[in-house]
Amino acid sequence: MPESFEYDVCVIGGAGHVGLPLSIAFADKGKKVVIQDINPSAFSLIESGKMPFMDKGAEAVLARVIHKTLFATTDPSVAGKSRYVIVVIGTPVDGHLNPELRTLNRLCEELGPYLRGEQVVILRSTLYPGTTERFRNILKKFNPKVEVCFCPERIAQGKALEELHSLPQIVSGFVPEAVDKVLDLFRLLTEDTVTLMPLEAELTKLFTNSYRYIQFAIANQFYMIAGDYGVDFHRVYEAMTHNYPRLADFPRPGFASGPCLFKDTMQLSAFTNNKFFLGHGAMLINEGLPNFLVEQTKKRMRLRDLQAGILGMTFKADSDDKRDSLSYKLRKVLEMEAGSVHCSDAYIHEAGFLTEADLIAESDVIFIGAPHARYKGLDFRGKPVVDVWDFLPFPTLLTGAP
Ligand SMILES: NC(=O)c1ccc[n+]([C@@H]2O[C@H](COP(=O)([O-])OP(=O)(O)OC[C@H]3O[C@@H](n4cnc5c(N)ncnc54)[C@H](O)[C@@H]3O)[C@@H](O)[C@H]2O)c1
Repeated sequence: MPESFEYDVCVIGGAGHVGLPLSIAFADKGKKVVIQDINPSAFSLIESGKMPFMDKGAEAVLARVIHKTLFATTDPSVAGKSRYVIVVIGTPVDGHLNPELRTLNRLCEELGPYLRGEQVVILRSTLYPGTTERFRNILKKFNPKVEVCFCPERIAQGKALEELHSLPQIVSGFVPEAVDKVLDLFRLLTEDTVTLMPLEAELTKLFTNSYRYIQFAIANQFYMIAGDYGVDFHRVYEAMTHNYPRLADFPRPGFASGPCLFKDTMQLSAFTNNKFFLGHGAMLINEGLPNFLVEQTKKRMRLRDLQAGILGMTFKADSDDKRDSLSYKLRKVLEMEAGSVHCSDAYIHEAGFLTEADLIAESDVIFIGAPHARYKGLDFRGKPVVDVWDFLPFPTLLTGAP
């Protein structure tokens, strides 16, 4: 006789950027899902059918499932009432760029006493290699029947609900029975699944993000080399990629930031005892781009006597997510190097932020921090603009020799 549970799925960290779309997706497939989160600040929005952050297409589905198959609580005991327990809390790095493992360890100890029977705990956060096994060893002390699997999330921020159905799902576990149970769940989203051992899956996720981070660093380093010699990199980029299939996915330069790529590259670096030289090189290049832009601008104008403006503070275009955005680092550098600094963003507002029109009116030079599509149509009043992204349809300040 199969065990009965009040919920099919409990998502711990379910109010977050990964947890909420995942919860909505399973609830939309008819599963009874409970979001468990320690931070209930987003609950009132979620419970009124509104997304607390931008995610393409998610709000309409949320409104359809909330209070029907989707519920939210801060009560940790719901973990013991759910057939599957998915963990998708943040897994940051600390001030030494090492993985911050304490939160996950604490959660594991808190979760243990609630688990009963043959529940499957699915880790969905990005993990420092070996974490799935450690988590499993701890939980087994509470309940030898419980199994732990790892299924990394690979969505792009802002497109989670869409990509949950279009990307293959990686499913890993230590025993085939648990893997089969998890496959049953994730096949609700897609038939395209890949099965691995947990350490393989942990590395799959970290290699994927590190690879992307390094790709962006190559583009950014080439941009800086060209800039140092007064060459417009974007002309070189067009030449490199024009009808040349082997460079079809070569990225453009731009700020490579956000809550994942940097910290996952550093997690891999910590795992290799700091021998991941490519990863560290990529970090120095990507994190140095704001400084490079300011230095290049200083070669062209007396920045310290001028007012600088940053348009776009989020970590990527057409998003409301500012986590680890390099626009804030650019602001810090400009605060040291320019007369004053103004900020504006199309999707977030903070104390002191200006409207786009006011920022353009007040600033002597404007930096594009995030290339939100609507900025293309702005009237920059002929003011100099620094556009690392090559997104604006007119020549900008750093194109060509100083
Ligand atoms: N954001 C992305 O695009 C993305 C993509 C792929 C993978 N990931 C990975 O997914 C994980 C989560 O990222 P995120 O962007 O959703 O983070 P987030 O900060 O948006 O969400 C995490 C949620 O977990 C909650 N939480 C923290 N500790 C908790 C606890 N002990 N119990 C219950 N809830 C708790 C927080 O309140 C928050 O709502 C990270 O490991 C990240 O690397 C993120």
